[in-house]
Amino acid sequence: MTQHAVARFDQLDAKRPMRVQAGSEEVILVRQGNEIHAFQGNCPHAGAPLEEGLICAGVLVCPWHKAAFAIKDGSVCEPPALAGLRRYRAWVEDGEVWVDDQPLPRSEPPRRSDARTFVVVGAGAAGSAAIATLLDHGFGGRLIWLDQERYPAYDRTALSKFVISGEMSPDEVPSLLEPEQLRRGQLDRRIGKVRTLDTKKQRITLADGQHIDYDAALLATGAIPLRPNLPGIDLQGIMTLRSREDAARLLDAAEPGKPVVVVGDGFIGLEAASALQKYGAKVHVVARHEVPLANQLGDRIGHSIRMLHERKGVTFHAPTEVERFLGDGSVEAVQLANGERLAASVVVLGTGVRPATGCVQGVQLSEDHSLQVDAELKVAHGLWAAGDLVTFPCAGTPVRIEHWRLAQQHGVIAAMNMLGEHRRYDDVPFFWTYHHGRTYEMLGHAQDWDRIEFVGAPETGEFLALQCTGARVQAVIANGYSDAMAMLSQRMKQPLSLDDALKLIG
Ligand SMILES: Cc1cc2nc3c(=O)[nH]c(=O)nc-3n(C[C@H](O)[C@H](O)[C@H](O)COP(=O)(O)OP(=O)(O)OC[C@H]3O[C@@H](n4cnc5c(N)ncnc54)[C@H](O)[C@@H]3O)c2cc1C
Ligand code: FES
Repeated sequence: MTQHAVARFDQLDAKRPMRVQAGSEEVILVRQGNEIHAFQGNCPHAGAPLEEGLICAGVLVCPWHKAAFAIKDGSVCEPPALAGLRRYRAWVEDGEVWVDDQPLPRSEPPRRSDARTFVVVGAGAAGSAAIATLLDHGFGGRLIWLDQERYPAYDRTALSKFVISGEMSPDEVPSLLEPEQLRRGQLDRRIGKVRTLDTKKQRITLADGQHIDYDAALLATGAIPLRPNLPGIDLQGIMTLRSREDAARLLDAAEPGKPVVVVGDGFIGLEAASALQKYGAKVHVVARHEVPLANQLGDRIGHSIRMLHERKGVTFHAPTEVERFLGDGSVEAVQLANGERLAASVVVLGTGVRPATGCVQGVQLSEDHSLQVDAELKVAHGLWAAGDLVTFPCAGTPVRIEHWRLAQQHGVIAAMNMLGEHRRYDDVPFFWTYHHGRTYEMLGHAQDWDRIEFVGAPETGEFLALQCTGARVQAVIANGYSDAMAMLSQRMKQPLSLDDALKLIG
């Protein structure tokens, strides 16, 4: 190990890390008062350069998807990262910052022997975060992790952005957990479809008839894309997009220059439109609304997103809907209610999802098939649920939210509660979506709002929009404004007025 003088202490900014080279290691320096800390230079989630992150309220917030790391030790406080930062010994001598070029060993929690069996069903966002948490906190009992997919625990969000655009092969989609994270404890990974989960007997039965009895279980099976009941829906080439296999099939079927029809103008439909346009297909979007995403983002932002798609060559057919799919074995055309007939070699259905709760026995499902959980994400004795399939209390209001980072936050909370804690969700929902090279981020969850205050203009470039009810900010939507969004991701944990928000943004 060699020690390197890398910077002068007085060069360091209290809000912004500095990137330096210590031998072959790329490291960031973080100043906290008179102390200095050194960590790995890139975010363990998707590799964001952490010198572009923001230091605030004792954490470093990643510039890309707002993971937060404790400055005192680099541990992860908020997903999407599921591992802490590698730390390097750093110190100051005569105003000069020195760093070792080898990371400090990671500390391992004590693992006490435990006779209990915990089961996590689902290896998506919520399930993977729960497994990381249980292992990180030293759970020493038997831990069974089930998923029906052959190669589960990957970053689903990349499918509609980079896989079907042809930029990332399905096999290259990043894994959610590193092999060394999984080598701890008594982890038993199994591929299998859960047929029933009996909440009274605390027993899981797999499709092949195996039984597993649990002391504590987490159900994190996500959601299943809906296929509308329309004539011709079973023709080949009419596809949904949820799994890596779905993305691979879609990529196989799409061809540059050939027409693809996307049904639905929600986030998945529009991300698919953007990616397939990039792939070279001729993309048509069929939607019921003139302005996409208006319910979530408001008319002005929704309209600017439609304009962006149109500038890139996507054609919208709206407001209308699909009447039938036409073809002989495979889809060839889509008949719309407004009389148009669109040629199609592939159809992508972005028509919503249904919570994957069909296996649950012994508790009443909500009307939308979700599981109603309490503030600690508990469903029944010994059973917790997390992610897309739950309706949970968020700031006192029952909601079901389909966001990646929120599902991970749920997974962490549920895992801590399986270990005996009583944690509740009291964070700020965060969502990002990507269209034609532009990332839009959303913090908070506004069921309703009566005004939107804009900084910048969505029609022309970077902007930040504050969705308010009266003088209170409910949610913030932005393209760019990375520092403001990082700051707000922490500040919005408390009620925030429009005036205070505008002062913060500066
Ligand atoms: C293509 C795509 C792109 C997205 N992009 C974004 C984005 O950019 N930003 C964002 O915030 N959100 C995004 N989302 C939404 C986000 O992915 C979901 O909110 C999140 O995955 C929910 O996590 P989850 O753990 O509840 O479910 P999932 O991640 O779906 O995981 C559920 C797992 O359970 C398994 N499973 C289901 N049923 C069974 C069973 N009976 N037995 C065994 N295993 C079972 C499934 O195979 C799956 O692996 C995207 C979603 C999709 C489909
Ligand atoms: S790259 Fe840091 S949170 Fe995604």
